[in-house]
Formats: sequence, C-alpha cells, structure tokens
Amino acid sequence: MKKIITLKSSKSKSLNGIITVPSDKSISIRSLIISSTCLGNTKIFKLLESEDVLNTLKVLKNLKIKIIKNNDYYEIFGQGGFFSDPQKILHFGNSGTGVRLMAGLLSTSAINATLTGDKSLSSRPMKRIIDPLHEMNVSITHNNGLLPIKVFNRNNQHIPINHTLNVGSAQVKSCILLAALNTKGTTKIVEKIPSRDHTEIMLKFLGANLIKEKNVIKLTSPNFLKPKELKIPGDFSSAAFVIIAVLLSKKSKVTLKDVGLNYYRTGLLDVLKKMNANITVKNKRKFNGEIVGDIEVVSSNLVATVVNKSIVPRLIDEYPILFVAASFASGTSEFYGLKELKVKESNRLSSMSNALSKNGVKLELGNDSIKIYGEETQEGGSHVETENDHRVAMSMLIFGFFSNKSIVIDEMEMIKTSFPSFRELFQKLGAKIEYFQKF
Ligand code: S3P
Repeated sequence: MKKIITLKSSKSKSLNGIITVPSDKSISIRSLIISSTCLGNTKIFKLLESEDVLNTLKVLKNLKIKIIKNNDYYEIFGQGGFFSDPQKILHFGNSGTGVRLMAGLLSTSAINATLTGDKSLSSRPMKRIIDPLHEMNVSITHNNGLLPIKVFNRNNQHIPINHTLNVGSAQVKSCILLAALNTKGTTKIVEKIPSRDHTEIMLKFLGANLIKEKNVIKLTSPNFLKPKELKIPGDFSSAAFVIIAVLLSKKSKVTLKDVGLNYYRTGLLDVLKKMNANITVKNKRKFNGEIVGDIEVVSSNLVATVVNKSIVPRLIDEYPILFVAASFASGTSEFYGLKELKVKESNRLSSMSNALSKNGVKLELGNDSIKIYGEETQEGGSHVETENDHRVAMSMLIFGFFSNKSIVIDEMEMIKTSFPSFRELFQKLGAKIEYFQKF
C-alpha cells in the first residue's frame, strides 16, 4: 500500500507570539495579472509563493510575459495588454480566482488559448463568467458550464456592457472588469451584493479610469496602466485560522502584523465581536490602496451567535473555521444563506458538516443553513476526509488542538495552495501539530 505523509494535531496548551501570516492570495494573483497589463516593469514585494499563485505566474510565462524572481521581490515585465498564443494548455491547478480572472482578460486579448484546472476546479461553475462575456461579444466556449474554457481570436468587435451581478462574486466582477480593460467604451457593473474590491482598488492605484459610486462600478477604456511598486498585505483568510485558534486556547495572546483588513474580507471580525472575542486592531495604514493593520488576539470564552445571509460575501472563505469556533462556543449557533459555500474548492457545507459530526459535534444541516450545538469539549479522534479542500484541512487540524482525541487528515498537500507554512507557524506559536505517516 502507498505510504502517505500527512498531519496530525493534538490537544494544545497556550499559543503565544508575534507573527506575520502568509501574504494575501487574492491580491497576489491580481498583482501578477494586472501588472502584466501595465506597460513597463512592476516590482511586487511579499508575493505569496503558494501553488495557486505560482500557477497563475506560470500561465503568464506561457503567454510570454517575462517574470524574474529577485531576492525580495518579483519583477513583471508588462506588455501593455499584449500576450502571445501559448504553446501549451493553460493550467490553473486549484485556483478559481486564477482561471476566472484570466478567462476575462484573455477573452478580449486577441489570442487563442485553452484554460483548465485540477479535478476540484473542473467541477466548479463557469457559466457565471461565460454569460456576461458572451454579452460582450467575445469568442469563448465552455464544456457544459465547466472547464476547459477556450478563447478564440476571431477579431470580433467587443462591446461594453451594463451588467447587474446576481451573485455576490468578486471573481465574476473581476472577470468582467479585466475583459473591459480591452473593450473600448464604458462598462458598467451593478453589484446587488457587494464583494471584495481588490481588483477595483488595484486598477485605480495603477491609474485606470474607474469610478465607483455606491454599488455601481464604471470602467472606461482604453486604459494605460502605469507600473508602480506593489506590496502584498497578509491574508486575512489565513489570519482567521490563527485568530480562532488563539481565542479557543487558554492563557494565550498573539499579535498578527500587517494583515489585510479590506472591509469586504473582514466580516469574521464583526461576527467574533458578537461572540465575545477579545480582539484589538491597531496601527491601521495602507499598502497600495489596501487597508492593513496589526491584530491582537487574547483567549476568550466564546458564546454562540446567529449569522445571517447579508454578511455572506464578507465572510465566505471563513465559514469552515467559524464552524470550528461555533463547535466550542457555549450555546447553539445558526448560519443562513450558505448556497455559495457549496461551490467552493469542495461543497464546504457538506464536507465540514461531515468532518465535524464524525468527530462528535452535534449539528443540524439544512439546504443552505446549519445549526451547530457548541460544547466545552468535543470528542475528535475520527479520520478527516478533507475532499481535497485546503480550508477544510486547516480548520479540522485546529479542531484537533481542542478535541479530546487527536485529528488526522487524509491528505495535507492541498494546504500548499494557500498556506504553505501552516505547520511551522502553528508549531512556533506552541501548538501540537506534527507529520503523521499513514498506510
Ligand atoms: C475570491 C473570491 C471569492 C472567494 C475566493 C477568492 C477572489 O470567490 O471565495 O476564495 O479572489 O476574488 P467568489 O468570487 O466565487 O465568491
């Protein structure tokens, strides 16, 4: 039988220290893509070197964008929006952000290319981006709503659109904005449910003709983006694992430096405050238009809460770890409006509820909701099927710091898509997490 090295987490004492979390995945991917459209060289400091980001970097190299890694920065030789037909299929691995944003950009870039991804990405919905791109009159095809996507250079006249986003998705919004960069005229997007605005912030920072008024975004092209130095903030979604681990630990205090605090990413802070969390944000400032700050977290006795649909896009990637917090909070927590959670790297509503209930957590699963009955102690001890989902893997490992019995996950490789230093960082803080050999 094949030997597999994976991870095991066990009951931990206090967590203490001052740390920086890995750089932001969403902003890292955008920094590569958008700087490739500038005319001239962009230096990117603190780029996240995770698989999702490196896959986008390889794709750009296949499109003949020169990228050099220096000691502490990457240099991107932008060609003002010109790309060459790739010799290979463009492979985005596990990254929905990479493939959806690049599909938009390439669809109006006069090239021929095929875009694909791994098994998980190949089961995620793509029609949400294809429909608005078809409205823009680009030549793009899909495979029954899934990958691979193909873009064709048929010299069509692209047209700017007025589009109302029915789904609160930053990937769909960014796909349209990047397609609009090469589309003469004004593209207008109305957001019914606002989502993270990293693309808008970066485009404006680099000089794009972009105006945002309330929930209406207007981008007028052509645009000539000017390269500037970019510095990537810490990833709030990675910080979320540390924040919740510290809150649930006894006699613990950790400071997380330089964490991205974009309003549309930090819904978790609002929810945790209601759960009685002791969290202080200090030293707020900006990196290339993005708010960053230091977060001080102290052990807290968490209480249950009700989380409604309206906050979903501001919290979307943090539900798996928030479900772990709810499992140890006193009382019953309720979460509503979780439809979008079903189309992430796994169906996170079912993968997390399976993993938690197998490990002793009492819960009730609805169609797009979940009720979690929190207890001071939880059993643990059951092998976790992560369904190849990095956030499920990391959330359940943190569960193992507090459950009576240890947690072993089926595989650990996919953690590298967003948080390659997960084990080392938690070990440094004092948590019990180690390699485990499985047969
Ligand atoms: C992301 C947007 C969100 C989020 C994903 C990253 C982005 O996806 O879940 O992890 O970088 O734009 P949706 O836009 O599909 O909600």
